[in-house]
Amino acid sequence: MKEIKATMDKVVNLCKTRGLIYPGSDIYGGMGNTWDYGPVGVEFKNNIKRTWWKRFVQENPNSYGVDAAILMNSRVWDASGHTSSFSDPKMDCKNCKTRHRADNLIESNSKGKVNADALSTEEMQTYIEEHKVACPHCGKFDWTPIRQFNLMFETSRGVTDEGTNKIYLRPETAQGEFVNFLNVQRTTRAKVPFGIAQIGKAFRNEITPGNFIFRTIEFEQMEHQWFCKAGEDEKYYNEFKEKALKYVLDLGIDESHLRFHDHDKLAHYARAACDIQYLFPMGWNELNGIHNRSDYDLSRHQEFSGKSMLYTDPFTNEKFVPNVIEYSIGADRLTLALLCEAYDEETLENGETRVVMHFHPAIAPYKVAILPLQKNLGDKAKEVFALLSKEFMCDYDEAGSIGKRYRRQDEIGTPYCVTIDFETLENGTVTIRDRDSMEQIRINISDLANYVNEKIKFN
Ligand code: GAP
Repeated sequence: MKEIKATMDKVVNLCKTRGLIYPGSDIYGGMGNTWDYGPVGVEFKNNIKRTWWKRFVQENPNSYGVDAAILMNSRVWDASGHTSSFSDPKMDCKNCKTRHRADNLIESNSKGKVNADALSTEEMQTYIEEHKVACPHCGKFDWTPIRQFNLMFETSRGVTDEGTNKIYLRPETAQGEFVNFLNVQRTTRAKVPFGIAQIGKAFRNEITPGNFIFRTIEFEQMEHQWFCKAGEDEKYYNEFKEKALKYVLDLGIDESHLRFHDHDKLAHYARAACDIQYLFPMGWNELNGIHNRSDYDLSRHQEFSGKSMLYTDPFTNEKFVPNVIEYSIGADRLTLALLCEAYDEETLENGETRVVMHFHPAIAPYKVAILPLQKNLGDKAKEVFALLSKEFMCDYDEAGSIGKRYRRQDEIGTPYCVTIDFETLENGTVTIRDRDSMEQIRINISDLANYVNEKIKFN
């Protein structure tokens, strides 16, 4: 297995000090489990989202994007089952007043041997009593009974106290794709099988958020729903497992840090479900999900909205409600996995340690850093910046020794550093340094954009 050099502390610290990710509402002492992406981080996450969109929408003639509203008619959540059953089993410690998830308590008590997902509420209660599972915070065994806690954030719509309606911040983007099935199918004249994809914010009042951006209360999802005919669902489920795996491998995640994990306990609508897990610093954990959702979603929306979701096959005239294969991945969770995967500490010949983020060039926040060797070369360097910044994100840095500037760029994973020196003024060439090999070559300024564009493709 490829060695992992990242620890959560090192990644969090680098993110904070290098402008990737800051604690939310920092100057007010933070707001638990919210995070703000800084100038470097926003480029990184946007690039990740672009690679996903390219792979799953742009390069697929039968997939279509949408950007649906976060606030949806509350009936959507009745139809989807979220109002009745989108909950986690919570327990409060009566002694220290901390709140915990019963399934997590059982899994850590049994050192991962018991899969609490497969237990009913009563079975979890029995396990905790029989094993006298103590509060991890204060060590006492003094629990409230397990209660199911709905994870949806509520808000209200309306201008007067009396005349308001309860609405929800969406807990997943998927429903925006399901409710637009008819719109998209009719306006694009798509034929089943076809896909609808969306990237957007989702909100969950998680009982135990944590591990940096792994589990937060506000996050982004990248979701793709593939509408197909019953009988073909299994074939597409397997295809999406492979596509989902290939995507993260192509982003540079080592195969030994990834594994499939089949769900033991299936949701009532699911025929099959699995995760791809990544070996995060805190252990194996879910990176994304692939779900065979049968015809549950469209059938439920048909029932609750009264609108027919029947699709007529143009060749056979057969009418059916399509099945759905869902592929869902958190943009922030993938960001965390890619940060951990890229983190490296190398010992150089002079004994110094170089921290370097080996990001795939397509997702690197900046593609090129423009570095004048001396400040009096700034005018020429700014000309090069103006030229290259029309093509891709560039950084410009003239402060400090060239060695220190290279290190700063290594730490934010900039794949190429372009140095402007006195030879540049004479013959229009610059040096370009490769982040990973640290080798430098001389190249004409007029060839730079093509050179870099070739290297930063995501195919
Ligand atoms: N529509 C299906 C769905 O939402 P999920 O397994 O609950 O399924 C899908 O979520 C993905 O969203 C997860 O695999 C994870 O990558 C991401 N995700 C879920 N909850 C999250 C949270 N609280 N914080 C960050 N990412 C989250």
